[in-house]
Amino acid sequence: MKLTVVGGGSTYTPELIDGFARLRDTLPVEELVLVDPAADRLELVGGLARRIFARQGHPGTITTTADLDAGVAGADAVLLQLRVGGQAARQQDETWPLECGCVGQETTGAGGLAKALRTVPVVLDIAERVRRANPDAWIIDFTNPVGIVTRALLHAGHRAVGLCNVAIGLQRKFAALLDVAPHEVHLDHVGLNHLTWETGVRLGGPGGEDVLPGLLAEHGGAIAEDLRLPRPLLDRLGVVPSYYLRYYYAHDQVVSELREGPSRAAQVAAMERELLTMYGDPELAEKPALLAQRGGAYYSEAAVDLAAALLGGGGSPYQVVNTLNRGTLPFLPDDAVIEVQAAVDANGAVPLPAAPLDPLYAGLVANVTAYEELALDAALRGGRERVFRALLAHPLIGQYAYAETLTDQLIAHNREHLAWA
Ligand code: G6P
Ligand code: MN
Repeated sequence: MKLTVVGGGSTYTPELIDGFARLRDTLPVEELVLVDPAADRLELVGGLARRIFARQGHPGTITTTADLDAGVAGADAVLLQLRVGGQAARQQDETWPLECGCVGQETTGAGGLAKALRTVPVVLDIAERVRRANPDAWIIDFTNPVGIVTRALLHAGHRAVGLCNVAIGLQRKFAALLDVAPHEVHLDHVGLNHLTWETGVRLGGPGGEDVLPGLLAEHGGAIAEDLRLPRPLLDRLGVVPSYYLRYYYAHDQVVSELREGPSRAAQVAAMERELLTMYGDPELAEKPALLAQRGGAYYSEAAVDLAAALLGGGGSPYQVVNTLNRGTLPFLPDDAVIEVQAAVDANGAVPLPAAPLDPLYAGLVANVTAYEELALDAALRGGRERVFRALLAHPLIGQYAYAETLTDQLIAHNREHLAWA
């Protein structure tokens, strides 16, 4: 089996390699190719990746290349984890929206739209080249904003599934609190990427007993603390929102925190410098503990599970992924991309039926879905007016004066990445 990682020079890659090494019975990777245009990073990351495989006795080969077409040739699955513009662009996304009193974040709000506009054309070009190389290859998209990027891929007819680590993180957390094995915990996970709620926590599978009420009663304090939301709010909702809901439920508070502290991009950039120095140490042959301070916990396990299921070699039968709605949430168009539990096998992902969603969440999901539709339109066709429409539609923006200013800011800060600007 051959796997290719586009954006393989990411400092996150050792997390992925560690997962491939540990879980090689689930996903027997024979050939792994790391593709990245940044030769210096790729060399450091590739060197450590090979040492991790060697230390763990993994028989697979790891090669590195800047040549995308060569890298994806013959690949059974291609993982996309790239960041157009790097942390410098992220720093911008997290900064200029704050001037309007809006959230500055890499996937939520105006910053997320900027990231979508930079990323969608690049990802579509890569996907076309993957398809040319091997029409049967699966594309696993980690590239943010995952909902919009996956929508772009699926609407262009690619064999793609979008993936995020929020669900697997909560599954692991709940399993530890309940003192059961992670695979015993099945989440009723519903919404859009970075806009989800756990409306049930079942033991043993989709039809299992829902233990969420007991989990909240016993561990609501710890769960609320993790999410940085007040416990009484969780008790009243009776569901567990993802931590991205804090940008909505505590918007003004988050904005004032973001205005005071250093940006996440700056923190990550500092961490990356340190990580790359570590990766250059020929004695290092495991992922360093510092990597755990990044947001990507368990992303390697989610990737292994999904690739294994798509390539027909096992993996969990049900997994939380981003895929087409196809009637699952009846209040959304069929061609919206949702993040839910799906049955996953060699034919792809098919959402499991979902219980009717409380209007308290359905309203927001519908609103953000409309934003994502407009965001994709702006990413594909460009133009100031399309950017404005997407921003005006976003529930965290909404006012025309903010949308005007943010449109100008977005274009000014991203001109070099926008072919039409
Ligand atoms: C979580 C999200 C990812 C996001 C990451 C950011 O893992 O699910 O979509 O990329 O956090 O982590 P970072 O360490 O870059 O802030
Ligand atoms: Mn994510």
